[in-house]
Amino acid sequence: MAYNLLKGKKGIIFGALNDMSIAWKVAELAHAEGAEFSLTNTPVSMRFGEIHELSKKCNNAPVIAADATSISDLENLFTQTMEHFGGKIDFVLHSIGMSLNVRKGRTYDDLDYNFLQKTIDISAISFHKVMQVARKLDAINEWGSVVALSYVAAQRTLYGYNDMADAKAMLESIARSFGYIYGRDKKIRVNTISQSPTMTTAGSGVKGIDGLMDFTERMSPLGNATAEECASYCITLFSDLTRKVTMQNLYHDGGFSNMGMSLKAMNMYNMGLENVENPEELD
Ligand SMILES: NC(=O)c1ccc[n+]([C@@H]2O[C@H](COP(=O)([O-])OP(=O)(O)OC[C@H]3O[C@@H](n4cnc5c(N)ncnc54)[C@H](O)[C@@H]3O)[C@@H](O)[C@H]2O)c1
Repeated sequence: MAYNLLKGKKGIIFGALNDMSIAWKVAELAHAEGAEFSLTNTPVSMRFGEIHELSKKCNNAPVIAADATSISDLENLFTQTMEHFGGKIDFVLHSIGMSLNVRKGRTYDDLDYNFLQKTIDISAISFHKVMQVARKLDAINEWGSVVALSYVAAQRTLYGYNDMADAKAMLESIARSFGYIYGRDKKIRVNTISQSPTMTTAGSGVKGIDGLMDFTERMSPLGNATAEECASYCITLFSDLTRKVTMQNLYHDGGFSNMGMSLKAMNMYNMGLENVENPEELD
């Protein structure tokens, strides 16, 4: 059911790779809610992904290639988007993450530091770059909204999340620091949504994702939040209903982040204990 929450609003959506991507679900829902937007990803992701299909579904949304770590690509993206819509935009979704250390199986105590710099640049600093470029071009209307997607590993250690945890901590810090400046000067809000583990291309790179998703499902009183539910939350943050929400990291995880132990998880854990001969020998 649509509510026309984004009627008349324009935006940019980063990170729709395929129909599993959280950004893909956000684009579909933003379109249903009356928004117009450009879609963007890296040229390589566009070749291997399905962004042009998404564009067709969204009233032929302009597709503009940009590596989010490149200032000139971002300048071109914002300029072209404003030319296309004949003015400033109202919302931006940053749905970008990538770690070469994770991809290449380097553990957190054996990081490749060139990879680490790439992780941070792509997954965190790009958020700063997006906003710095937007602000210099005065590309976002007053009461506009900028959202990036984060994960609870920014606050708590989760085995296998690796250097992405550091990137997410920085991403959330950037939301606060830029949120102050953008709010003060332009009344633009900046938030991160901390989403449940979700089965996407990036998600499937997380070590033990199946077991992790089962664990968080059992731990969360409301269960894991899906990509579609994440999209709904993004829409509320782009809408005029949340104008005074800024500089926040907003948990969208069915309650997981405030749990210590649940009955469902405890039952599962106890079953494991009963079935393992020498539990003290497990790492
Ligand atoms: N899937 C999960 O479990 C989960 C949980 C919490 C947060 N998140 C976050 O959600 C966001 C979206 O991820 P997803 O799960 O939809 O996976 P996804 O793989 O569909 O999306 C990641 C996107 O990042 C893009 N990207 C990578 N490098 C880029 C660059 N240099 N410039 C521009 N774009 C680039 C990819 O092309 C891809 O479209 C990420 O920030 C991710 O960390 C995901």
